[in-house]
Amino acid sequence: MWRKLKDKVVNPNKVHQVIRERRSITIFKNKPVEEDAILAILDAARWAPSSNNSQPWEFVVVAEKRRKDAIADLYVEAYKKRADVSKDDKIRGKIYEILPYLEKELKVPPYLIVVCADPRKSKSYLIDTAAAVENMLLAAWELGLGTNWIDLTSTDFAKQFDVKKLKEYLFIPDEIVPVAIVPVGFPEQIPPPPPRWRIKNVLHKGFW
Ligand SMILES: Cc1cc2nc3c(=O)[nH]c(=O)nc-3n(C[C@H](O)[C@H](O)[C@H](O)COP(=O)(O)O)c2cc1C
Repeated sequence: MWRKLKDKVVNPNKVHQVIRERRSITIFKNKPVEEDAILAILDAARWAPSSNNSQPWEFVVVAEKRRKDAIADLYVEAYKKRADVSKDDKIRGKIYEILPYLEKELKVPPYLIVVCADPRKSKSYLIDTAAAVENMLLAAWELGLGTNWIDLTSTDFAKQFDVKKLKEYLFIPDEIVPVAIVPVGFPEQIPPPPPRWRIKNVLHKGFW
């Protein structure tokens, strides 16, 4: 029943190829992106699965320089705070090393999509919107566009991010939760794929 495990593309169709080749992009070209591409990305998002088809997502598409810059400043501030609260010298050093480049990650790409969720629509709003975000990253990649997934909910970085200010800047209502920032732009550099566990390391055939 089980084929011999191979960690190569076993199904070379388009979806699988996009899944395998998509990378998180932090260095973008200063080149405009068509509005239609953003609509295609949001179309992919809205077709994500969600519990009871609750579709608790909302998207704020930010293209205005003034607002992108303000969000980039919050991003850098959060990383600085993340470094300052860390007891780990290695983490602090690493963050201070990338600090001069961080603002460009959000200032250069022509669009920032702030993915939000309405917790009143679904108890699993974070999971639902995560599925939508993944669809967005894949749809963008298929169009030749790069993205990144900046989580605002759970990581150590996210805990330092001033979500309240972000909500103020973008007039996001009190009851809505911003869950991620997805920058969208043409990649200037595509990093090599970070390693993944081999299938045999994570597969339990029939029982653990
Ligand atoms: C929940 C989540 C949070 C992430 N947060 C960040 C982030 O704050 N900054 C960043 O540059 N990348 C972030 N990433 C991207 C990951 O670093 C990236 O997906 C991982 O290193 C694998 O690389 P790949 O996406 O190119 O395959 C995040 C990804 C996820 C799923």
